[in-house]
This record gives sequence, structure tokens and C-alpha cells, in this order.
Amino acid sequence: MPKQKTRYVCQSCGATALRWFGRCPGCGQWNTCAEESAQEETKRPLQFSAGPPAPITEVEMTTEERHRTEISEFDRVLGGGIVPGSIVLVGGDPGIGKSTLLLQVSGKLGSDGQKVLYVSGEESPRQTRMRAGRIGALTGNLFVLSETNLDVITSEAEKLSPSMVVIDSVQTVYSPELESAPGSISQVRECAGILMHLAKRTGIPVFLVGHVTKEGAIAGPKVLEHIVDTVLYLEGERHHSYRILRAAKNRFGSTNEIGVFEMEEEGMVGIENPSEVFLSERSGTESGSVVVCSIEGTRPILVEIQALVSPANFGYPQRVAAGIDNRRLSILIAVLEKRAGLTLGTQDVFIKVAGGVRIEEPSVDLGIATAISSSFRDAPVDPDTVVIGEVGLGGEIRPVGGIDKRVKEAAKLGFRRCIIAKGNLKGLRKPDEMETVAVKTVEEALREAL
Ligand SMILES: Nc1ncnc2c1ncn2[C@@H]1O[C@H](COP(=O)(O)OP(=O)(O)O)[C@@H](O)[C@H]1O
Ligand SMILES: [Mg+2]
Repeated sequence: MPKQKTRYVCQSCGATALRWFGRCPGCGQWNTCAEESAQEETKRPLQFSAGPPAPITEVEMTTEERHRTEISEFDRVLGGGIVPGSIVLVGGDPGIGKSTLLLQVSGKLGSDGQKVLYVSGEESPRQTRMRAGRIGALTGNLFVLSETNLDVITSEAEKLSPSMVVIDSVQTVYSPELESAPGSISQVRECAGILMHLAKRTGIPVFLVGHVTKEGAIAGPKVLEHIVDTVLYLEGERHHSYRILRAAKNRFGSTNEIGVFEMEEEGMVGIENPSEVFLSERSGTESGSVVVCSIEGTRPILVEIQALVSPANFGYPQRVAAGIDNRRLSILIAVLEKRAGLTLGTQDVFIKVAGGVRIEEPSVDLGIATAISSSFRDAPVDPDTVVIGEVGLGGEIRPVGGIDKRVKEAAKLGFRRCIIAKGNLKGLRKPDEMETVAVKTVEEALREAL
């Protein structure tokens, strides 16, 4: 019997099958099947030489020397700078600013006297030079290479022995040993594996740019995310100039830190005090607007939540949230109906976090609930008030962590009044000019806020 020449591979999770499939048997996604040659097996194992087992106390410890890039928002997200030998994936929508940010980082290292190899499979060296000129990254230490063959790239990297390698993007490079097209899951996996080897063997940190698919995941997501040390996402709304860099995985630091940038003519400019920027467009007099405080990593950040509640025109009312989880919105609406007597069943509810920020922290629950009620009753919330608290299913307000930091940040930006959970009151250190209102239930909170 002739040997099977082709196989079918899911481009999302890498599951393989001998027959074509419409829906992946591995991850259940539709239309992810692609035909690939059957010989596409990784020839190199992914491990690097380990040696015999050794007591952990005798493992050689190198003091972790990180390269600081002086782009403090970038260093913060990485956990304090670039770790030698690490492999970092930077994902994001097309045009969001991945190439710009990495070129800026490369330029900074270059002007610091370190060689950087910037490999672009998408843009010509001239295009890269033009951008470098615009963002102030022109330095003799920055080497550009327009190449997609990974064998050439690794050999050039070893010859040059730079302090950092950037591959823009991982979907354009290919290993000539495989037959499948660049960007296919076999290629992406193989290339990431080879680059991982390079990073671990030589200690050169490697940054991979990864495009995000329409569904919001990096193409070949699970496979890539498992291989690399750190996954960073650059996000933001197309029509806003703010960009947020967030770590989704980090073997060398916390994943909670975010870096906030503004996209400008001269590149990405770090924003040291994001609260001020996020609140800058607020008028504060309409109903449905509430300021909350979320802690992202170690930094408290004040943002505005906007709600719009209006009668539903046909049948099923809509619940639409931008910047927070839709399910959480549904829960909060149910709590408001049951515990505070708001009849939202016939109302459309829209929620938006201003500035295109995304918040996952539960401390903004009470702020969202307050915004919904404010819009529903068309009663504005006092513009000098910040609302902080988690809402339980029973309508109780739960205390949140880091309350001192949050209240202090609110005071710093000129707010005069905080609505917080009663459980947060004990031991609270607050600035004298700040008035705190402690509440136990959502009903009580709404009475105080509106
Ligand atoms: N001359 C310019 N001035 C300001 N912004 C620019 C200029 N040229 C391009 N941009 C911005 O840079 C962005 C492209 O960023 P880029 O780093 O190429 O994104 P990515 O690599 O994520 O696809 C575009 O969205 C565009 O808004
Ligand atoms: Mg790019």
C-alpha cells in the first residue's frame, strides 16, 4: 500500500487527521482544516541539552541581568526589562503598532551601544529605515535583514551575535525543511522551535511578532503560546490613539502589569499617569457616567464607565458591553433587578469603558451597577465621586484589595468622595480631604451615589 502523502491539520490547535474535516475534532472550531504534507514532523526535539539530574541547590545561578530599554512602560510589562535567552511573542491586530514598538525598542538598545538584528519578512529595509527615521531609531547598531528563510536568519544571527533579535512576523518566516506554506501551523511551530533553540543556546533574546486572526487569537495560538516564555498583547481601539500592552503569559514576571502608550507621529509614547489621560474626555454631567478604580498590576488606574439604558424596541432586550465581560454585565443586571428593584427586563443596556480599556477586575462591579442605575433613572452621579466595590449575588458589597492605593490615586486626581465597601473601612488610611462613604448593600450604594 502506498504511504499516505498528505494529512489534514487544524490551523488553530494543530490536531491532525487523515481525512478532511469541517469541524476540528480537537478544538471544535470550524473551517480550520488545511492539507499538509505527511512528512511535516519536527525533526529536532524541542528540549535543549539538560545533563544528568542535579540537586537544586547546586544548579548554577546566574544573577538575572535584564536589559532595561528605557521605555519604562515596556520594561514594566516584561517584569523589569528584557531577560537574556528569553523568547517573547508580541501579538496584536494589524496596524496596531507592533512593528513600531519593537523598532523603537531596537533603536533604544542600539543607541545604548548594543547590536540588534531586526528581521522583516513584511517590509523592505527602505520601509523600515523610513519608519526608524520617523521614530528616532536610526543607529548604526541596528541591523536590518529582509529575509524569510529561517536558515539564513539563524546563521546571520549567530554571525552577528546581537543583543536582541526581532522577527517580524513569525507568520512570514519558513523553514526550508518543511514543504508547507509560511504561516501554516507546521511552519509556525517549527520556526518557533528553531528560534527557541537559538535563544536558549546563545542567550540572545528573541522577539516574535504574531498576527492575530479575526477571532482574536494569534494564528496557531495554543502551539505558539506554549513554546514561548512570554506572550504580550498590544491592544487598543483603532480609532483611539491609546495602546495597551498586556502580558498574557510571563515566565519572568507578573501577568497583571500593563503598559499604556499613545500612538503618535514619533512612535509609541509611554503614558506615566494613565488615569489623567483616561479621564480627560469626561464631562461628568451626564447620567450613566461613573468613575471607578481598577488595579492593573501594581498601578491603580481610574477609568470612566459609561452606561446607556433605553427601552427595548422589539422583543428581546440587548445587553452589550465593550471593555468588560458580557456575562458579568448580565449578572449585575440580574442583581439590580432582584436586589434593588430596577425593572431592566424591558430595557436595552449598553456599557462602555471609556478610552478603549478592558477591565477584568471585580472591583469595578459596583461602578457598573451604579452607572446602569444612573442612566436608568436619568440621574447623574456626583462628578467628584469614585465608586469602588465588588458586588455579590445577594446584592452585598464586598471589600476589595489595595483599597489604600485606590483611594490615594482618586485623591491625587482631585476626587473628594469614595463609595467603598463597609469591609474596607477598617484600617483604611486615606488622605484627610477624602470623604469615604461605606456601604453594605447595592441598594444603599445607589442611595448614596444618586
Ligand atoms: N507618518 C505616520 N505618523 C503617525 N502614525 C503613523 C505614520 N505612519 C504610520 N502610522 C501609524 O502606524 C501604524 C502602523 O503600525 P505598525 O507598527 O506597522 O503596526 P503593526 O506592525 O502592528 O501592523 C498605523 O496604524 C498608522 O496609524
Ligand atoms: Mg508590522
